[in-house]
Amino acid sequence: MKRLLLLAFCSVCLHAMKGQGTRLALAPTPPMGWMTWNQFQGNISEQLIRETADLMVSEGYRDAGYEYIFIDDCWQGGRDNHNNIIPDPDKFPNGMKALADYVHSKGLKLGIYSDAAQLTCAGYTASLGFEEQDARTFAQWGIDYLKYDYCGAPNDSATAHRRYSTMADALAKSGRSIVLGICEWGQHNAEVWAPEAGGSVFRTSGDVRDMWKDVTRQGGMGILDIINITVPLQPFARKGCWFDMDMLVCGLYGKGGPSSDLGGVGCTDTEYQTQMSLWAMMASPLAMSHDLRQTNDRTREILLNKEIIDIDQDPLGQVAERRILTDEMQVFVRPLSEGRYAVAVLNTSDNVLPVRLDFASLGLTARYTLRDVWLHKDVKKNARQWQGTVERHETKVFVLQKS
Ligand code: GAL
Repeated sequence: MKRLLLLAFCSVCLHAMKGQGTRLALAPTPPMGWMTWNQFQGNISEQLIRETADLMVSEGYRDAGYEYIFIDDCWQGGRDNHNNIIPDPDKFPNGMKALADYVHSKGLKLGIYSDAAQLTCAGYTASLGFEEQDARTFAQWGIDYLKYDYCGAPNDSATAHRRYSTMADALAKSGRSIVLGICEWGQHNAEVWAPEAGGSVFRTSGDVRDMWKDVTRQGGMGILDIINITVPLQPFARKGCWFDMDMLVCGLYGKGGPSSDLGGVGCTDTEYQTQMSLWAMMASPLAMSHDLRQTNDRTREILLNKEIIDIDQDPLGQVAERRILTDEMQVFVRPLSEGRYAVAVLNTSDNVLPVRLDFASLGLTARYTLRDVWLHKDVKKNARQWQGTVERHETKVFVLQKS
């Protein structure tokens, strides 16, 4: 009996370890790339994807780590008479295989989108009941990532867990390594079951809007709203199953598309910089979403800041903890590789904030060399504290290295 129990226990452990191993192999660090939805919604085409792929390379995004192009909803053209899912022939006249080949030839990867019901959120053909067939189709096309949405599916967590596991299993059998992105908007306890279900990332909130916070109270999610929803999930953080805080809105400036709904009037560059900072502190995927053909210098500078990207992608894979929370300020600490720490100081108030931060109050008791990753310079040596001002909605990010 004991032996039987032991055997059963070992097989559960092995299963869990296998799950963990696979996930880690699929997304050892948070996936980075560019996603169609926020700016383009249904206005997508193979030409847009090709042009974006070209820009990802020529503008240095690929080399900075942005490796995926994620095609979101509205690419589908129904099913053929063998029930194989097909792309819209007007938007993708050469088919997905040719497009994936092109994207791969640029040293990039291709993501696609489906939903765990019969129809997607935008009303297109989805994968419920066709999981294995669709996974095989995606594999044949050369797809590397699947964002799997949850519109039109039952509201209980057990069903959500099951439907995502079914798709993860289908992908695992598809013959190709395909990352699974869970998108149930933080509404069905994915923080508990996502790793076991085979997800490599899971969304923690409703859709990001291009705004600082939901001042108009229409229920949309601004940058600060998503920070405040995601940070308390920290105890559930698992390397290889990342908190997906949704797309970066940097560079959108309220220009339209779904991210401009529900009060998405646009943000200041300082606020976009805060989004980049906190998404990196929380090890979120970094998915740009503005039109890469129209990028100004400030947007480029924010999105291509190698030092902040390095925090996001740090190989230790830890997630920041919020150590200070007041009405005006939040301070986060993220342990990094090589014994370093990232410390972020966020001013949530509408005024400039003078700050004196004793590192000991964060549990960091040594003396440190302080690198300001937005200024790209060491600002202090042998420091036990930092003193300075933080602009309205700004985030200062420092890397602390023991002196
Ligand atoms: C939402 C999802 C968005 C986008 C959209 C497409 O459910 O959260 O990120 O994918 O569906 O219809």
